[in-house]
Amino acid sequence: MKRALITGITGQDGSYLTELLLGKGYEVHGIIRRSSTFNTGRIDHLYQDPHERDQRLVLHYGDLTDSSRLVTLIEKVRPDEVYHLAAQSHVRVSFDEPEYTGNTTGVGTARLLEAIRMVGVDTRYYQASSSEMFGATPPPQNEDTPFYPRSPYGAAKVYGYWMARNYREAHDLFAVNGILFNHESPRRGETFVTRKIARAAARIKAGLEQHVYLGNLDAVRDWGYAQEYVEGMWRMLQAPEPADYVLATGTATTVREFTQYCFERVGLDWEEHVRFDETYLRPTEVDALIGDASKAQRDLGWKAQTMPEQLAHLMVDADLAALQK
Ligand code: NAP
Ligand code: GDD
Repeated sequence: MKRALITGITGQDGSYLTELLLGKGYEVHGIIRRSSTFNTGRIDHLYQDPHERDQRLVLHYGDLTDSSRLVTLIEKVRPDEVYHLAAQSHVRVSFDEPEYTGNTTGVGTARLLEAIRMVGVDTRYYQASSSEMFGATPPPQNEDTPFYPRSPYGAAKVYGYWMARNYREAHDLFAVNGILFNHESPRRGETFVTRKIARAAARIKAGLEQHVYLGNLDAVRDWGYAQEYVEGMWRMLQAPEPADYVLATGTATTVREFTQYCFERVGLDWEEHVRFDETYLRPTEVDALIGDASKAQRDLGWKAQTMPEQLAHLMVDADLAALQK
């Protein structure tokens, strides 16, 4: 039985990846942060009582800022595969908390890689790199596109990317960077724009709200479905050689168009319900991200299936269903 360690297991991607790996027969270990309220909502349906025999999902307290704990956990779990997903992942928040974002999203990666090297465990390592690293470089973006980050988050991810590359080259670690374009789902955090819009459309339809306040509607993103992207992460670690891969749909959608898809789904005119709030603008914006995932298709046989309009519909439907419950 293969053993995987996932940082960020309580996040959107962590929850889908855990489902995938358990389904493939893995023993899955996840690192969770201690919090004053439960933070395991996305993986509760996968939870197994530790008193049961054959437990295949094991959770451990830990934090990316705590290097000795990371060493202890690598030593204890001795994983065959490490999926490093944990991060302060919100771009707008990273302008408010640049130091914290650098410490977790950037240096947290160095702590984990160094823990792997110090323990000397033979493992394969996935780094959650991001299309946000391309920033101001115009689309289409692929594995050879130069980085030009436009946020403290993007800068921290560039550091993490190069640390993973360096451990591959300097220490012969099987380390890969998945350069993932935006991927969404009904489990997406409520303050990312797709989920914010989908949730608002459902709540407005249900008569619970009248308006939603948004920032820049002109930004272009390449939005795919998170459940499909975690399959790509796994495939990267099964490849014969470590390499970096873009995962994307290759389609361009503005925030305005995504809003229209969501409101149309519930039979409403978005322009009657969307208002502008400059709070949601960023000091520097990433205008357009459109990925070219042809390398992943060629080498890994991975291709995005769900396109943005369909994604908008499934997200609105899920928020409506949740309200009906
Ligand atoms: P997410 O939903 O925000 O989840 C982030 C995870 O990191 C959560 O489990 C969170 O724990 C954990 N975390 C945050 N700070 C931590 C710390 N100091 N120590 C330990 N754990 C910590 O993110 P996601 O959408 O699943 O994305 C997964 C990864 O892919 C992230 O690294 C993100 O930056 C990257 N990425 C995402 C996308 C995308 O479109 N979703 C695209 C490219 C790259 P709590 O639950 O306790 O907060
Ligand atoms: N969050 C948010 N809230 N974004 C808004 C809003 C709003 O009210 N109004 C407009 N936007 C615009 C943002 O300015 C941005 O151009 C776009 O919507 C997408 O914003 P987010 O959903 O916050 O995602 P992101 O693209 O900044 O970052 C996400 O994708 C990255 C991959 O490129 C995150 O998941 C990152 O962790 C990830 O690396």
